[in-house]
Amino acid sequence: MYLLIPAAGSGRRMGASCNKLLLKLLDRSLLGWTLASAGASKSIIWIGIIGQTADFPDFKAIVDEVSLNLPIKFIIGGETRQESVYNGLQALPPEADRVLIHDGARCLATPDLFDRCTKALESVSGLIAAIPVKDTIKIVDGNNFIQDTPDRRQLWAAQTPQGFEVPLLRECHEKGRHLGWDVTDDAALFERCGLPVQVVEGEETNLKVTTPVDLQIAEFILRERLA
Ligand code: C5P
Repeated sequence: MYLLIPAAGSGRRMGASCNKLLLKLLDRSLLGWTLASAGASKSIIWIGIIGQTADFPDFKAIVDEVSLNLPIKFIIGGETRQESVYNGLQALPPEADRVLIHDGARCLATPDLFDRCTKALESVSGLIAAIPVKDTIKIVDGNNFIQDTPDRRQLWAAQTPQGFEVPLLRECHEKGRHLGWDVTDDAALFERCGLPVQVVEGEETNLKVTTPVDLQIAEFILRERLA
């Protein structure tokens, strides 16, 4: 399976002065953990890392450190995650008919999750890893008043990996760019095009490291795994 890793964010919500993926968790960078897990999966055969050019020297050092036995391509990212993935799709090898997309910031996804998503993508054209939400979710207006409480039994929190047939996802991205759709994941583009997206059971520990407290939680989980 071909894998694209969007890693071109700035880390604004982390309050870091560098790309948060370069921050260390135990003895390895956040991106290093993500790559090591993807590389340990039995199904990943190629990885495209999407980043800002200024980060490429650090990314290359991380790839060397993790010593992946796979072809790796560095791809220049865009202003938004959506643009970054668009660039990634253009850079896939011509023979790539299906692709998994996994946020560099989700460094705790296990190799098994990559394998399960790969297997499930054999029989559908679009899927995401997701887990049922534990909290009751409120829809709140601009003045902080609740507008609605959706039925929790129907709510799932979207994660990555997300997997798609490449030609279909390319079409959805083109349409999204043309019509100015502003979305935060690739499944949303698929959905807006009226295409089905299946949910695969994700992992509770597969958090997206976004704020300083996420870093501490991720470090705790990694330490437990190594013990
Ligand atoms: O900012 P957030 O954590 O939601 O971003 C999700 C993923 O998308 C991160 O791995 C980040 O590096 C990536 N991203 C990107 N290009 C951008 C913005 C975010 O590849 N312009």
